[in-house]
Amino acid sequence: MRILYLNGPNLNLLGTREPEKYGRTTLAEIEGRVRQRATELKVEVEFRQSNLEGELVDWIQQAKGQFDSIILNAAAYTHTSIALRDAIAAIQVPTIEIHLSNVHAREEFRHKSLIAPVCRGQITGFGPTSYLLALDAAVSDN
Ligand code: DQA
Repeated sequence: MRILYLNGPNLNLLGTREPEKYGRTTLAEIEGRVRQRATELKVEVEFRQSNLEGELVDWIQQAKGQFDSIILNAAAYTHTSIALRDAIAAIQVPTIEIHLSNVHAREEFRHKSLIAPVCRGQITGFGPTSYLLALDAAVSDN
């Protein structure tokens, strides 16, 4: 089984970015934890980050036929991007929406996810553990 992790804008700054909201764990450390769990589960993972909406759209399109599942922290694009939503809907690869923070407990503009209706499910609010819970979900859902 092959799983693609995609991370959206500003997640490259994890560790120093608003630590009271996102913690002090870096994206590289999260990737390390994911890789450890992936080895235990005997699945392959690819881990990417981009600040560019179009690059994320390209990666989602290219996932068709290459990956069994996508785990997506679209960051701010969650709340704005019809393009990401349409890409997810187009490829029919089960996609799990994740967030570090509980978006429903934050500003109102974060309560709306444009991608949620085309995702398999949503995991929000567990910090770096959201990434691991999504891996377990992707594997057991397959
Ligand atoms: C986030 C939540 C989004 O609202 C925000 O724009 C982010 C990070 C999270 O993981 O908690 O950049 O996706």
